[in-house]
Amino acid sequence: MMTRTIRDLSPADLAGKRALVRVDFNVPLDATGAVGDDTRIAAALPTITTLLDHGAKVVLLAHFGRPKGAPEAKYSLAPVAARLSQLLPRPVHFLGETVGAAAVAATHALPVGEVLLLENTRFLPGEESNDDALSRQLAELGDLYVNDAFGAAHRAHASTAGVATYCRPAVAGLLMEKELAYLGGALAAPQRPFVAILGGSKISGKIDVVEALLPKVDHLLIGGAMACTFFRAMGFETGTSLVEPDRLVMAADLLARAGDKLVLPVDAVIAPAMDAGSAARAVARDAIPSGEAMFDIGPSTVAHYRTLIESARTVLWNGPMGVFEKPPFDVGTRAVADAMAIATGRGATTIIGGGDSAAAVAEAGLEAQMSHVSTGGGASLEFLEGKALPGVSALDRR
Ligand code: 3PG
Repeated sequence: MMTRTIRDLSPADLAGKRALVRVDFNVPLDATGAVGDDTRIAAALPTITTLLDHGAKVVLLAHFGRPKGAPEAKYSLAPVAARLSQLLPRPVHFLGETVGAAAVAATHALPVGEVLLLENTRFLPGEESNDDALSRQLAELGDLYVNDAFGAAHRAHASTAGVATYCRPAVAGLLMEKELAYLGGALAAPQRPFVAILGGSKISGKIDVVEALLPKVDHLLIGGAMACTFFRAMGFETGTSLVEPDRLVMAADLLARAGDKLVLPVDAVIAPAMDAGSAARAVARDAIPSGEAMFDIGPSTVAHYRTLIESARTVLWNGPMGVFEKPPFDVGTRAVADAMAIATGRGATTIIGGGDSAAAVAEAGLEAQMSHVSTGGGASLEFLEGKALPGVSALDRR
């Protein structure tokens, strides 16, 4: 069964109706307090515009940062409303409240074709506990519920899950649909060869996704400091590299089971410290000296990974290959982004699983050369692990 989306609704479901839309507007602010990166806001525009074009009133719910269930000025969505009104050629109103009589009245007073953004859902104590009374209050804000917040779909919160119990129809927005189609499509019916690249510092955060992807992929390429936990499990010296000693048994077990599907770096770029980039050099993976640490994959690894990625038909990437914020340790991460762009050009489906990898692709200016860049870091990881996302499970099926 598929999740119902706004495209499954009839014109009568939308005309004159208050569409309560949960979006992920959890965006970075710049030094002036304005929105620093509006990617997530722009990604929600197709859903908002489609609803407005069908004569709906759009009421937006979003979280911002991690306030602890009470208002905090620095977590107000006001700057986000300002940016949204620049991006959308329709009136955008902002209300400094989220639920209650004033908020409900504002949704009814909203003219057709206009947008109302309500204040941060995490200012409400019942949001993160998925409180039933709050879910009912949120449901009073709309005649139908649309979840377009893929990036928050792994949270079982009142505005992402509970509200759908009381506000029906409850359907996915176009961004949510697109995210599920790309990530789900890669897992269900990938064109082969299917190559996944996983990086980042800790194997502990990626072990479930490694387990879930191994049976599906042709090659699973490992990068980032998590490679060092595997190196240690193989009996190599890892110097001062980040290693998770409590995961060594797990790493050894994976190595024994995975066969040659699991591809580890053959060399490493090392340095005495992260800020000692000028002293960086490449060594074989079994030649990391005791006083130094791995901060990137090495050149032979880069060449090998490039070949595998560029000849793949489906590529999925989550997690940087090194400390990509600090050149020269960005080379491996940039090479993966670059190889994926080449693969896209050759007809492959290329998917960036959000978070740091999405940031690296944006920084390299290669976003437009990927088939899909996910707006969800944690959410895409949980989806790839095969977990049900509460924000999706709460929606109608067809
Ligand atoms: C994100 O930024 O990854 C999402 O908006 C989820 O935010 P959270 O991790 O604070 O729930």
